[in-house]
Amino acid sequence: MRRLPPVLLEDGCPRDLISLIRTILAACKEISFRVSQGALSGVLGSTLDENIQGETQKKLDVLSNQLLKDILLESGYVKAIASEEEEGTVAGNPEADYIVAFDPLDGSSNTDINSLVGTIFSVMRVPKEADASDPAIFLQKGEQQVAAGYVLYGPSTMLALTTGKGTRLFTLDRTHGSFLLTQDFASVPAQTQEFAINASNQRHWQAPMQQYIADLLAGKSGPRGKNFNMRWIAAMVGDVHRVLCRGGLFTYPADTKNPDKPYKLRLLYEANPMAMLIEQAGGLASTGEQRIMEIEPQQIHQRVAVILGSKDEVETCLSYHQ
Ligand code: F6P
Repeated sequence: MRRLPPVLLEDGCPRDLISLIRTILAACKEISFRVSQGALSGVLGSTLDENIQGETQKKLDVLSNQLLKDILLESGYVKAIASEEEEGTVAGNPEADYIVAFDPLDGSSNTDINSLVGTIFSVMRVPKEADASDPAIFLQKGEQQVAAGYVLYGPSTMLALTTGKGTRLFTLDRTHGSFLLTQDFASVPAQTQEFAINASNQRHWQAPMQQYIADLLAGKSGPRGKNFNMRWIAAMVGDVHRVLCRGGLFTYPADTKNPDKPYKLRLLYEANPMAMLIEQAGGLASTGEQRIMEIEPQQIHQRVAVILGSKDEVETCLSYHQ
């Protein structure tokens, strides 16, 4: 099985970008180890603090953030980082060409139940002369990402990675500490009979999503004429991984539960990198109104509605929104 660096080199990926990706993965291997130790490493449970998003911070959130931040900033490969767990961006090497936005531990409420969590990252290029301390350097459309990926800490630790030439899946070989290529080109089937949504929010959704889900639930005797199955892992990284492996539609739509927070998922740390991975595997990713990767970000912690996955099913869902 092939290791990650030669695979990326064959693609013509620049050496400094490969080094940067390997730096992110070095931190992820450490996170993977800590996650796998669970209660043995004393990292389960919450801290007494809230993060910038007003959410309770898990000890593993803090630890994962610190590991990624330290290793990236020390590497010299990044001009700045933005993290879901940091209020502002953090400047790195002013001479560097790349910036990285990341969600250090997605789905962290799953840590205490020994269920799926993961790290999501997005890499963008910036001009040499760009100011490392200016958060505006992160306000790039998803289309401008030069690499995107996630590391899923599950029964095995897996990496989904794209540098714009398809989406590949690697599995961590714990014996040698290398990510080995286990699926060369992931391909999301265009059709599906599986969807993922937090159905407990149903009464708060807007009319188009209410109708779309009602039609899926109506099954064979409804307008769709087939039965659908539902899954919800409560970690985007786990749900998107399933979609990459066998297709499906994943959505976290707008809702009116909290008028100050109509959307849940973050554009820079979650929606954009996942959209690139899914599109590179032949799927679609939209807000319901717009292709996610065409959104012009207004601020680093911006949130958006997300509908992504199997092409035909996403298109059907979007037809309800027109
Ligand atoms: O980042 C937020 C997140 O944990 C996602 O990973 C996941 O898809 C979603 O929230 C779960 O939301 P809920 O708590 O509504 O199930």
